[in-house]
Amino acid sequence: MSYKVVVVGATGNVGREMLNILDEREFPIAEIAVLASRKSLGTEVSFGDKTLKTKDLATFDFTGWDMALFAVGSEATKEYAPKAAAAGCIVIDNSSLYRYDPEVPLIVPEVNADAVFGCHKKNIIANPNCSTAQMVVALKPLHDRARIKRVVVSTYQSVSGAGKEGIDELWDQTKSIYNPVDNKPPTKFTKQIAFNVIPHIDVFLDSGDTKEEWKMVAETKKILDSEIKVTATCVRVPVFVGHSESINIEFEEFLDEDEAREILREAPGIMVIDKREDGGYVSPVECVGDYATFISRIRQDVTIENGINLWCVSDNLRKGAALNAVQIAEVLGNKVLKKG
Ligand SMILES: NC(=O)c1ccc[n+]([C@@H]2O[C@H](COP(=O)([O-])OP(=O)(O)OC[C@H]3O[C@@H](n4cnc5c(N)ncnc54)[C@H](OP(=O)(O)O)[C@@H]3O)[C@@H](O)[C@H]2O)c1
Repeated sequence: MSYKVVVVGATGNVGREMLNILDEREFPIAEIAVLASRKSLGTEVSFGDKTLKTKDLATFDFTGWDMALFAVGSEATKEYAPKAAAAGCIVIDNSSLYRYDPEVPLIVPEVNADAVFGCHKKNIIANPNCSTAQMVVALKPLHDRARIKRVVVSTYQSVSGAGKEGIDELWDQTKSIYNPVDNKPPTKFTKQIAFNVIPHIDVFLDSGDTKEEWKMVAETKKILDSEIKVTATCVRVPVFVGHSESINIEFEEFLDEDEAREILREAPGIMVIDKREDGGYVSPVECVGDYATFISRIRQDVTIENGINLWCVSDNLRKGAALNAVQIAEVLGNKVLKKG
């Protein structure tokens, strides 16, 4: 079994991680093409020990290719994903464009892998928002045991969630703080991100929530359970890679903190690091380059009847984007395409 795979947005943060992960996980590839915008034509990107040259998305013919992993943002996705899908190439999309389309499965393989059987309605599968992906991995095994009623989540999201420009802005602004002549005012973010935190990701909605906060609510319902109530506050922090979340969970049934810890230890995709001592928890710099969603600080919330608090950290470019997309590709190959 091997597949003809296209990586779209191969010069970006997520696209490069997709190539790393396809190689690391030895995804069965018969042929691979890497695409970006015309300005990057011929740019070299690494794939294992090979170097590949990017082609222009605008002129690429998707006919005969099995799957395309898109990481180019909603605008380019809107133009090119339907073309790939119409050519019979199944799109696995990282943008938010198709996530809420009832005809498009939204998948986190640890949670709802079987949703992949709905992929042929549009030949498109959506990858969730980075903050949602790691949260539902943590929630799923606990929900199976004690039924979640309500989740209160606050996020601490790294600048790489805002693409290459986000990383550059934190880097340049941090240096410029020490050299005021070289002042770097905010452009990608709405306020100074160096040595600061910003409680604003994506646009504001009429409700007062931001779109990022709304995404966590809508996507958790679509992936895990439409009955679960979620309220989110999403915050950008001056961390390069790795999103963190403080999650408060209210269950229908009582769940003891020790049992919750054991359930999470056994669950797929999760690594529990939870010692009640200095450094006995995971911080974002330690999760970079890892596949796992790390859970720490698991404890009873005694202010409600059936409550648990926990701390959840993951590499947003991996589980939050590229790894999840490659895992979907694996599920697509194993369950649907079964090429051989
Ligand atoms: N970063 C995250 O944590 C994260 C998590 C989940 C989802 N996502 C989503 O993944 C997507 C990519 O994010 P990213 O962080 O990788 O962004 P990025 O680092 O800014 O990279 C964007 C990529 O898209 C390409 N691109 C942009 N417009 C294009 C066009 N019109 N035609 C062809 N290629 C085009 C760029 O090519 P050039 O280099 O040629 O411009 C580049 O390869 C976005 O939809 C984002 O919302 C990101």
